[in-house]
Amino acid sequence: MVYINVAVCLSVLLLVIGLSVGLSVNTFRGRDALDSAPLIDGHNDLPYNLYGKLNNHLSDFNFESDLSNDSVWGKKACDSCFTDLPRLLKGKVGGQFWVAYVSCSSQYKDSLQLTMRQIDVIRRFIQKYPNNLQLVTEAGDIETTWRSGKIASMIGVEGGHSLDSSLAVLRLYYDLGVRYVTLTHTCNTPWADASTVDDGYVYNLTEFGQAMVYEMNRIGMLVDLSHVSHNVMREVLAITKAPVIFSHSSAFSVCNHYRNVPDDVLHLVKKNNGVVMVNFYSEFVNCNASRNATMEDVIKHINHIRRLIGPDHIGIGGDYDGVSSMPVGLEDVSKYPDLFDRLYESREGEPRWTKEDLEKLAGRNLIRVFQATEAVRDSLSSELPYEETITGNELYIAQRREGFNPGSCQSAIEWDNINVSEIEQSNSFSHFTTRAAYQRLEVNGC
Ligand SMILES: *[C@@H]1O[C@H](CO)[C@@H](O)[C@H](O)[C@H]1NC(C)=O
Ligand SMILES: *[C@@H]1O[C@H](CO)[C@@H](O)[C@H](O)[C@H]1NC(C)=O
Ligand SMILES: *[C@@H]1O[C@H](CO)[C@@H](O)[C@H](O)[C@H]1NC(C)=O
Ligand SMILES: *[C@@H]1O[C@H](CO)[C@@H](O)[C@H](O)[C@H]1NC(C)=O
Ligand SMILES: *[C@@H]1O[C@H](CO)[C@@H](O)[C@H](O)[C@H]1NC(C)=O
Ligand SMILES: [Zn+2]
Repeated sequence: MVYINVAVCLSVLLLVIGLSVGLSVNTFRGRDALDSAPLIDGHNDLPYNLYGKLNNHLSDFNFESDLSNDSVWGKKACDSCFTDLPRLLKGKVGGQFWVAYVSCSSQYKDSLQLTMRQIDVIRRFIQKYPNNLQLVTEAGDIETTWRSGKIASMIGVEGGHSLDSSLAVLRLYYDLGVRYVTLTHTCNTPWADASTVDDGYVYNLTEFGQAMVYEMNRIGMLVDLSHVSHNVMREVLAITKAPVIFSHSSAFSVCNHYRNVPDDVLHLVKKNNGVVMVNFYSEFVNCNASRNATMEDVIKHINHIRRLIGPDHIGIGGDYDGVSSMPVGLEDVSKYPDLFDRLYESREGEPRWTKEDLEKLAGRNLIRVFQATEAVRDSLSSELPYEETITGNELYIAQRREGFNPGSCQSAIEWDNINVSEIEQSNSFSHFTTRAAYQRLEVNGC
C-alpha cells in the first residue's frame, strides 16, 4: 500500500515537473497575440455585397451561418464573398472597419444618396447582431468592446466621390458615425488624384483638397490614403496635422502596383506616426502572373514595411469582400491566426516578431493613430468649421474631363456665374479625357 502511495506521489511529482518544463519551453504561438490585443482589420466590403446581392435587404442575409458553401454566398457562387460570423470568430477578429463604398460610376450623380444607403445598412447590420457586433466611434471603446466579446464595428467611407466635394457632407458623415474617409477610389475627384494616374497628376491635391484634409483633422476623421496617387500621398503627408492611415494598401517595392505605397512615402508615414494596413488582394501582393499568390507574399510585404520603418506603423487591411481573389492560405476571414503564427515562426533572414510587435500589428498601431487623431481634434476644438466651397470652374473642368455635360445634373449655387467660354478657351481637355469619358460625351447626358 505504502509503496503504491509512494509510486503515485512520485509519478504526480514527475508529471508536475514535466508540465512546468513543458510550459517553460515556449508554447506561445503567434495567434495568441490576438487574445491579448484586438485584431482590427481596416477594410471589409461585406456591405457592398449586401447591396449588390440583396439591395440591402438584411433579412435575407444569414450572417450567423458559415456560408462557405452557400448557393449565393459560397465560394462557388461568389468569388468576392469571404465573410460571415462563424468565420470572423474563427479568425479572432476583434475590430472591423465596415466600408460604405459606392462605385465611381455614381460620381456627379447619385453617389451621395447611395453612400447614405450604405451607411444605413452598416448601422442596421450592427444593430441586428447586438451580441456579436457593436458600433464604435471612439478609439477608447475598441478594446473594451472587444473584451466584452463583441467585434468593435467601425464605419469607413471609401472614396471622395461620396463627399460630392462638400465639407458639409464630410461633417455629417462624421455625425453618422463614419470614422475614416478614403480620399479617392479609382476615380479622381475634382480635388484629389487617384492611383490610376500612376506617377503623374491631373489635380494633385488642390487648395480645396487641402481644406478637406484640414477639416478632417479638425473634426477627428481619419484620413485614409489608400487608393490615392503617390503624389497625393506625399502632398497630404506634407500638410496633415494628424497621423494618416492606409486602410488597405501594401508595399510598392515588393509588387509594383500603384495601389501600393512606395518606399519614400513609407518613410514619411513613419515621420507622421501613421499606419499602413496591409492589403491581401492577390493582384496587389503578387506581381508574378505565372503563379498564384500565397500567404508568403503577404508576409513579404509586412516584413518589407517592418524592415524599412519598424513595427509601429503596420496593420492589417485584408480587403475581404472587396476583391475577387485571395492568396492561398488566406482564403477567407477565418485565416488571420495562421498569418500571425507564421510571422512568429520567423524564418532565416526575417525580422523577429515579439508578442508585443504582433499586438501592434494586430490592432495597437491603429488604436494609437485613432487616439492621436482624436487628440488633434481636441486640440483644435476652438477652431471654427472650414467654410471653403469648391468653385464652379473646378466642378466644370472636372466634369468636362469625365465626359459629362457639365452642370447638367446639378443645381447648386456654385454653378451660377461661371464663364464657360473662358474655361473652354483656357483648357485642353483632350489630354485628360479618357475613352470612357468620350463615350459618355456622345451620350451627352448626366
Ligand atoms: C464546405 O464544403 C467543403 C468541401 O465539400 C467541406 O470540406 C466543408 O466542410 C464545407 N463547409 C461547410 C461549412 O459546410
Ligand atoms: C504634384 O505633387 C508632387 C508631389 O508633391 C509634386 O512633386 C509635383 O510638382 C506636383 N505637381 C504639380 C503640377 O503641382
Ligand atoms: C514567377 O513565378 C515562376 C513560377 O513560380 C518562377 O519560375 C519565376 O522565377 C517567377 N518570376 C519572378 C520574376 O519572380
Ligand atoms: C491558380 O489557382 C487557380 C484556382 O485555384 C488554378 O485554376 C490555376 O491553375 C492556378 N494558376 C497557377 C499558375 O498555378
Ligand atoms: C467670359 O470670358 C470671355 C473670355 O475671357 C470674355 O471675353 C467675356 O467677356 C466673359 N464673359 C463674361 C460674362 O464675363
Ligand atoms: Zn479599395
